[in-house]
Amino acid sequence: MHKVIYDTDPGVDDAMALLFLHRHPEIDLIGITTVFGNASVETTTRNALFLKREWNIPAPVAKGASVTIDPARAEREWPAMVHGENGLGDIDVPETIDLPLDPRPAHRFIIDTVRANPGEIRLVAVGRMTNLARALKEDPEIASLVKDVVIMGGNFYVPGNVSPVAEANIHGDPEAADIVMTAPWKVVVIGLDVTSITTMSRSYLGEMAARGDGAVKLLDALSQSYIDFYRHAVEDGMMVHDSCASVYVVAPELFTTITGAVRVVCGGIADGQTVVKPDNRRFPPGDWDGLPSQIVATGIESEKVLKLIRDTLLTA
Ligand code: BDR
Ligand code: CA
Repeated sequence: MHKVIYDTDPGVDDAMALLFLHRHPEIDLIGITTVFGNASVETTTRNALFLKREWNIPAPVAKGASVTIDPARAEREWPAMVHGENGLGDIDVPETIDLPLDPRPAHRFIIDTVRANPGEIRLVAVGRMTNLARALKEDPEIASLVKDVVIMGGNFYVPGNVSPVAEANIHGDPEAADIVMTAPWKVVVIGLDVTSITTMSRSYLGEMAARGDGAVKLLDALSQSYIDFYRHAVEDGMMVHDSCASVYVVAPELFTTITGAVRVVCGGIADGQTVVKPDNRRFPPGDWDGLPSQIVATGIESEKVLKLIRDTLLTA
């Protein structure tokens, strides 16, 4: 069993990935930690509790960061045009959910859980990397105690989605992302190179909903306006960014990867750009030297990824 902590900002594609992690038979989802991003952390936390309740997910929810790791960074507006005002495609969600939160802040939950399960925890992080960076700052030793960190974020050989060079999760907290990429733990970076070509059509999702239970029907409902948003880039469908990272946990063979040190540009016109120095390339001395070699996804078998998502969501 893969023991997973899911760090997330639900978020429409976050919701699909959550249901995947909950339903996959080889995954033990042991915690959900929330972060600001697709909406405020109050909203993403409420959404996590809502999905936990609707989908009977036993994992505890711990609330995380509300702002970037560098408090001097200016706050940005929430991407309501992507995920809706309420972060879940503006379907009806109660203002508050009557379920308890874990008493600890997300980064503390991560530290405690990693320490209680040395060498076993897989962190799947699909929002701003702020909680992970905070956990590392408070307890740097956890880097050697985590099994790996699988993130959805960044873009290497394709354009960004919030600027010509930056992807939303990294751009939303570049300093945190640079801390996470350069720490001495194994990071697998699932970025736009592979997620932007992994699109699920409205009819594929609709067919899943017709066959599936109430959970899949709810997922279908909350995804509709997100699919509308993607009209500029996808023909009647959506990019399933965060699910790609979740799929990597159980099916890494569906990805092709390169290895190398990864840095994040902090500031200037390339703010939030992710840059890998491939291990097989030589350069004069520079800012990538002496850093851990991470795994960067450059290719994906999208059809098989979509089928695995479908099969997993329909296993209830
Ligand atoms: C990422 O940003 C968010 O909008 C999505 O949930 C995903 O994690 C894609 O750039
Ligand atoms: Ca997300």
